[in-house]
Amino acid sequence: MAQARIGLIGLGVMGANLALNIAEKGFPVVVHNRTASVMHDFIDGAGDLAERLVAAEDYAALAAALTPPRAVIVMVKAGGPVDAVIDDLKPHLDPGDIVIDAGNADFNDTRRREAALREEGFRFVGMGVSGGEEGARHGPSIMVGGADAAYAEIAEIVEAIAARYQDTPCAAHLGPDGAGHFVKTVHNGIEYADMQMIAEVYGMLRDGGSRAPHDIAELFEAWNQGPLQSYLVEITAKVLAAHDPDTGKPMVDVILDAAGQKGTGRWTVIEALKLGQSPSTIEAAVAARSWSAQKALRETGAAILTAHDASQTGPDVLDGDLERALLAARIIAYAQGFSLLSAASAEFDWSLDLARIAEIWRAGCIIRSSLLDDIATAFRGDLPGGNLILAPAFVRTLGETISALRRTVASAAVTGLPVPALSSALAYYDTMRLARGTAALIQAQRDFFGAHGFERIDRDGSGLHGPWGG
Ligand code: 6PG
Repeated sequence: MAQARIGLIGLGVMGANLALNIAEKGFPVVVHNRTASVMHDFIDGAGDLAERLVAAEDYAALAAALTPPRAVIVMVKAGGPVDAVIDDLKPHLDPGDIVIDAGNADFNDTRRREAALREEGFRFVGMGVSGGEEGARHGPSIMVGGADAAYAEIAEIVEAIAARYQDTPCAAHLGPDGAGHFVKTVHNGIEYADMQMIAEVYGMLRDGGSRAPHDIAELFEAWNQGPLQSYLVEITAKVLAAHDPDTGKPMVDVILDAAGQKGTGRWTVIEALKLGQSPSTIEAAVAARSWSAQKALRETGAAILTAHDASQTGPDVLDGDLERALLAARIIAYAQGFSLLSAASAEFDWSLDLARIAEIWRAGCIIRSSLLDDIATAFRGDLPGGNLILAPAFVRTLGETISALRRTVASAAVTGLPVPALSSALAYYDTMRLARGTAALIQAQRDFFGAHGFERIDRDGSGLHGPWGG
């Protein structure tokens, strides 16, 4: 076997599938797992690919089996475990070797690790990998952050294992240090928003329209043939059509309605707020997951509040309206996510290529959708205000869909059905088309109680005050 250039530590679901993907593309991989039996079982079960997999019992063996400059992918739980692996691995590495964190890391950690390892002569790459188990095995979308020279060493492997869109790899070196992990985090934020908006539409069909899961599944399946075509709509149809083998009931009906979250959605919101941004659809999605977890409170609320609430059956919303509403809201969620990327790029001096990011999201990742090609085109062209909702193609689509979003949100409000992400999308859209907003009043209030000062529209100068005194 050829000498291996790449090692991989952590044979959980993602790590194991990534190792098989790398081996399948012809690169020998040295693998290590803390529990040795997992590693041996993995190689035993790898079939023909086993001949390109080498088991390393410890980090010394891993380092010895790799040709310098070594590249070692770390695929362990985010946070402390990544630092622990790096600390234990470092003594076995040489200057110039590359450690690649391919997990979902907080980009602040990535920046810290990159700086610390650089100081010691090593190189660190933060690599966002999207596509779940299937993507890791057969082609994920890969968002890389790190030094140019470090990426040059691993580009061949990264691009070989990535998903392909019309023969172009869905992998890119997006910027230094934490750029790749930041982009992956925002990808997940958009994923949260899209999933939440889909769930809200499902809720309107289920609770507003008394529609059965299989019926809703057919609707999503049909929508997936049109402008909503996307991985998330596709799997929604499949999920809603599935039945529980134990009870025979629709699977979705026996799953506890409390959503988990590992943190990337929350990180998106935290970083956005720090940058003075507000991706409200993502915020709404994170909030909705947190509210969903308050199951006991909601059950109590259902018993107490429903009796005192005069909500009524709202105006009927046609299926076509829901489809258009989802499309409008999805465009707005993408617009918010890309605005955040643009703000971070300016703040951290990353020069992110937003068109390229849209391009590498066209295949392999969880938010892949037919919209991403149009988004890439919009960023390659002249984009008023740098905001996607002002791109000519999206102005047109929003013009055709926004009234459906209005009817959907209005109907949900009258009926008493929660649609936090859809309504946040609408509020953002309406705010962005209001040239004269209402913040003059906020400024006046701030000046009234705290002499905070304001600017006027008819004179230069800041820190001006109103005649509130007497
Ligand atoms: C992806 C997914 C992946 C994972 C999320 C789920 O792009 O492949 O986003 O990263 O499924 O971590 O995140 P939550 O547990 O927070 O929903």
